[in-house]
Amino acid sequence: MQRKPYPGSIHWFTSVDSTNRVAREMAQKGAPDWTVVVAEQQTAGKGRYRRRWFSPAGKGLYLSIILRPDILPEQMNLVNLTSALAVAEFLEKLTQREKRPLSPALKWPNDVMINGRKISGILLESGFKGKRIDYLIAGIGINVNQDAAEFPPDLRSRTTSLKRETGRLRPIEALTAPFLTGFYRRLSAALQTGFREVVSQYRNRLYWTDRMVELRLPGRILRGVPEDLDEWGFLRLRTDRGLIKITAGDLWEMTEGDES
Ligand code: BTN
Repeated sequence: MQRKPYPGSIHWFTSVDSTNRVAREMAQKGAPDWTVVVAEQQTAGKGRYRRRWFSPAGKGLYLSIILRPDILPEQMNLVNLTSALAVAEFLEKLTQREKRPLSPALKWPNDVMINGRKISGILLESGFKGKRIDYLIAGIGINVNQDAAEFPPDLRSRTTSLKRETGRLRPIEALTAPFLTGFYRRLSAALQTGFREVVSQYRNRLYWTDRMVELRLPGRILRGVPEDLDEWGFLRLRTDRGLIKITAGDLWEMTEGDES
């Protein structure tokens, strides 16, 4: 069976502030669906909730994909989950025949975890025309060649890289095409036939289903156990007041003593 090639044009940069920022500018000027911006280095890589994304040259894959899907705003979360699933599947496939094959888990909504540490994150941004989605930017960062000591001290215990997990250094350019092919296959199938398969595959990788965690929301904290996803990809959190549907937020491990 012949594989469909990646349909979008790929724009390579040596250094940008943020590939998401560059992609947004291109989207606003009319860049088509599936256009990709890749950079060797970002000087102001952005994470979720205004955090920064540590992006030195040669250490990670930093790319942003412009999407123009015909979906409802409520389905944006499903694109987010599909992107995280595509990263997990890519890392699993990449290492499947190696000495230390990886089996990534997904911390809702879009952190990719290996052995309890984050290896990749996704920042999904959007532009609207009236009430309709004009474009989405799926910004994806994967830690590839960092040693533990190269992460900033505040991130070191919670972050990992392919090098740290498998012991191998990898050329970043060689990862881009296989990642994009898998991403395209997953997302285009979901856009054509629905997100049921994505939700089902995501469920199998759902992280922290065995413990109480904290969901940090602006101004309040909810505690519970991640139990499942609904068909929209929203999280069902088991709390002492029953199952609660979570549509946004960030999950954190409970600090010791919190449970009492
Ligand atoms: C997160 O986990 O907080 C999301 C991190 C997303 C980082 C990527 S790197 C490529 C793209 N450009 C950015 O500025 N951010 C995303």
